[in-house]
Amino acid sequence: MFNVQDIRKDFPILSRKVNGKPLAYFDNAATSQTPQQVIDAIVDYYANYNANIHRGVHTLSQEATDLYEQARQKIQAHFNAKFSHEIILTSGATHSINLVANGFSSLLKKGDDIIVSALEHHSNIVPWQMLCERTGANLKVIPMNEDGELVMSVFDNLLSKNTKLVFLNHISNALGTINPIEYVIEKAHQVGSAVLVDGAQACPHIKPDVQALDVDFYVASAHKMCGPTGVGMLYGKEAWLNKLPPYQGGGEMIAEVTFEKTTYADLPHKFEAGTPNIAGGIVFGAAIDYMNNIGFDAIAAYEKELLDYATQKLLAIDGLKIYGTSKNKTSVISFNLENIHPYDVGTILDKLGIAVRTGHHCAQPIMDYYGIPGTIRASLAFYNTKEEIDTLVEGVKKAKMMLS
Ligand code: ALA
Repeated sequence: MFNVQDIRKDFPILSRKVNGKPLAYFDNAATSQTPQQVIDAIVDYYANYNANIHRGVHTLSQEATDLYEQARQKIQAHFNAKFSHEIILTSGATHSINLVANGFSSLLKKGDDIIVSALEHHSNIVPWQMLCERTGANLKVIPMNEDGELVMSVFDNLLSKNTKLVFLNHISNALGTINPIEYVIEKAHQVGSAVLVDGAQACPHIKPDVQALDVDFYVASAHKMCGPTGVGMLYGKEAWLNKLPPYQGGGEMIAEVTFEKTTYADLPHKFEAGTPNIAGGIVFGAAIDYMNNIGFDAIAAYEKELLDYATQKLLAIDGLKIYGTSKNKTSVISFNLENIHPYDVGTILDKLGIAVRTGHHCAQPIMDYYGIPGTIRASLAFYNTKEEIDTLVEGVKKAKMMLS
């Protein structure tokens, strides 16, 4: 049974005060909060197992290695990858995307097309632009409409035998739109193109099945799903990961090194040069356990209730406009108040203990489409409450009164 008050007891930070007021945390799309079970897992690692992995004959090193590899298996099971070596542990979604973009440098040639969506975070735009500069490939864009949805008829026309790679996010960080990735994957595969899906914003809300999706690459960050910062994952189909060259050289990623020639380790180690974020990887597993214990169906149902409640209450404020009005969206509400600058509203809300993100949300092309400098973004998580939403609504009304 989903009981938000019981869940909130797991999160020590939710009972702190900010500027003398109880914290109402609505910046979950930037980073989620951390439950005690995950904090305990961090402490447990450093108190009991801290050692370097994959290289020590001693007990601590072997125990730490076992825990790290068990976490990889948990991540494999969560995303339903076929093999655990298809899960590469990285520093986060951005690192994962750069790893793939770098690998495609050797696979693309002048005149090839790569397709991106208009709804992307800068981390899923800039690495591909850099790739185009290196290879002479063309970057094409699936446009968006006023509701913040991708225009699929244009995508159909962009596809051709020159298309080598399509990449888009599963859910937009700025608007919350859930993109039709199933359709994109199927269509892209029909012309022989690979597809990378950035799941950073999806994984806190839904449980993706990479085999059912038949996606080639899927990336995620632990800190958006109750885990620590500085760790994330790249899922890649085995055949693709074997085709891509290593991203970084160093220890751990080699089979044999001589000054004449170096050969590389098998997957996943080929892509994991240097000492990884060992605690982070292990604790990523603990975060996945935590979320699965609550259950993604229960999380989705409760967040939908919160989204509907917040949308209705916010829209009742005169002059408030919500950006991102797709029927298919998660619990992200981006909005503005008439001509008031989002930063000014965010500053007043902070004084009231309310945490939102303001600005372009690392998605400037979306803001350009709407002709605005940015938005105020309230991104809701399964530990938020309707009472907190009431506090937000009252805060927005107060900000409007002070700034109009
Ligand atoms: N990508 C994160 C956000 O949307 C940081 O806030």
